[in-house]
Amino acid sequence: MSGANSEVATHWWRDAVIYQIYPRSWADADGDGVGDLPGITARLDHLAALGVDALWISPFYTSPQNDAGYDVADYRDVDPLFGTLADADALLDKAHRLGLRVIVDLVPNHSSSEHAWFQAALASPPGSPERARYLFRDGRGERGDEPPNNWQSLFGGPAWERIIEADGTPGQWYLHLFDVSQPDFDWSNPEVGDEMESVIRFWLDRGVDGFRIDVAHGLVKAAGLPDEDHSLDRHLSRTDLMPMWDRDEVHDVYRRWRNVVEEYDGDRVLVGEAWVTPAERLARYVRADELHQTFNFDYLMTPWLAPDQRAAITASLAATASVGAPTTWVLSNHDVVRHATRLGYPQRPGPVSAPGIGAADPQPDRLLGVRRARAATMVMLALPGSAYLYQGEELGLPDATELPDEARQDPTFARTGGRELGRDGCRVPIPWEGASPGCGFGPSASTWLPQPKVYAELAVDRQQGAADSTLELYRALLALRHDWSLGQGVLSWPEELADDAEVLRFTVTTPRGAVAVLANVGSDGVRIPNAARVLASSAELGQDGTVPRDVTVWLSND
Ligand code: GLC
Repeated sequence: MSGANSEVATHWWRDAVIYQIYPRSWADADGDGVGDLPGITARLDHLAALGVDALWISPFYTSPQNDAGYDVADYRDVDPLFGTLADADALLDKAHRLGLRVIVDLVPNHSSSEHAWFQAALASPPGSPERARYLFRDGRGERGDEPPNNWQSLFGGPAWERIIEADGTPGQWYLHLFDVSQPDFDWSNPEVGDEMESVIRFWLDRGVDGFRIDVAHGLVKAAGLPDEDHSLDRHLSRTDLMPMWDRDEVHDVYRRWRNVVEEYDGDRVLVGEAWVTPAERLARYVRADELHQTFNFDYLMTPWLAPDQRAAITASLAATASVGAPTTWVLSNHDVVRHATRLGYPQRPGPVSAPGIGAADPQPDRLLGVRRARAATMVMLALPGSAYLYQGEELGLPDATELPDEARQDPTFARTGGRELGRDGCRVPIPWEGASPGCGFGPSASTWLPQPKVYAELAVDRQQGAADSTLELYRALLALRHDWSLGQGVLSWPEELADDAEVLRFTVTTPRGAVAVLANVGSDGVRIPNAARVLASSAELGQDGTVPRDVTVWLSND
């Protein structure tokens, strides 16, 4: 093994497969229709059998649940909906006994409006130290009745809310980039940084293995909170041109946190959710003294087309290599339409935007979606670096694309007057047992979002041991990935197929040997090179042994 590889092998996170649990929707122990920590603990064997290295759990802290827990009222406690601190300890303990690391979510950009600090700010006068922890400003216009600037909330409507002062008169405004109940902290106030460091230490002391950092690119805002230039595309252009994202000062926060986690043993990690473009700007978050990883959303938004896939993979590897960090890969999470559904639509060049889908929208081709999803997953799991899985993708679950409006709970739906359907479709409770009420999500039939009919046939117990099931495919792939150390490999593109419009082909070379990956993204059958042994295939090969359209194979010549 070369020097570089032994360095790589010492850090578990560099090639880890990390499974995201959305706690509301994974497993319900108490029968209230919402998942909880004891539910997770009881089902951890599923993850050990799947073969992942770690789990990341979305927020389970005290919260009014206006944004499904991303609105935190107490960072040091567990919401009764999910259990108790003792339940969190029990979860950590069992996961560690099973050899699984646990990453928790940290929401440092904003708190809930029910947080004690925000309540104190409301009760205190303008200019007070209590107000200075958030972004309170006077309004514009003669009577101060216009928002302080033109920023828009990501959930729709203005990003400012006017408060009623203690004397009953309309007063200052506060910034909320997300829901009105999620006031943004003022990170230029040192008190905020000190408090968040103390929260980090609280959970590190309890034994967590790291943090996923929510809205990591948003903490620091441009001085003076200038108007945004709305002629720029909010999501897809250079995020650093916008006054609320990707400010240079945010990197000081991550240098400080890196020092904190390094005081602890056990190689704990910081993973940033930073919707930053271009990739070179994103790479700055994973410089050696900052975060360990960021999610690769450019890859997630890449259509299932060979040139786009090739370009995204190449650019991702180059960007992180420039700072010596591992690349990460992700296809689904709790904020986007699941890849089994996204890929059930015609694919067009350019970044995919994946807003929620409703009954009135064109419906995806479910079987095509899952076929391509399996093929895309086989590309992802062969790539060097670390991979993130979202709960239920190992079952090939589609989004719920026909949810009735009255079932929708994402604040985006209400804040946009239903124009944006929001993210409920990918958050539907997991089916564990096909024949049980609520598909065995919990001891009652109740599930906080209704499950589509097809979830019963995709339940864990229906797929377990079934040779062609998506669950068994994931297990086999994760075992092979581990045996071949694919996450530690080096990727190369064979010259003869470098520009092929329909076939994606690359080789990953590892200390154990070489695995060739061949994905047929658009042509009629692709011949497998002579002498190659098929290690895995995302679907049955053609009768003539060729790789059919929308199928990926892993090949070995050894
Ligand atoms: C992140 C979370 C998302 C949440 C938002 C506000 O983007 O992933 O679910 O709504 O932050 O906290």
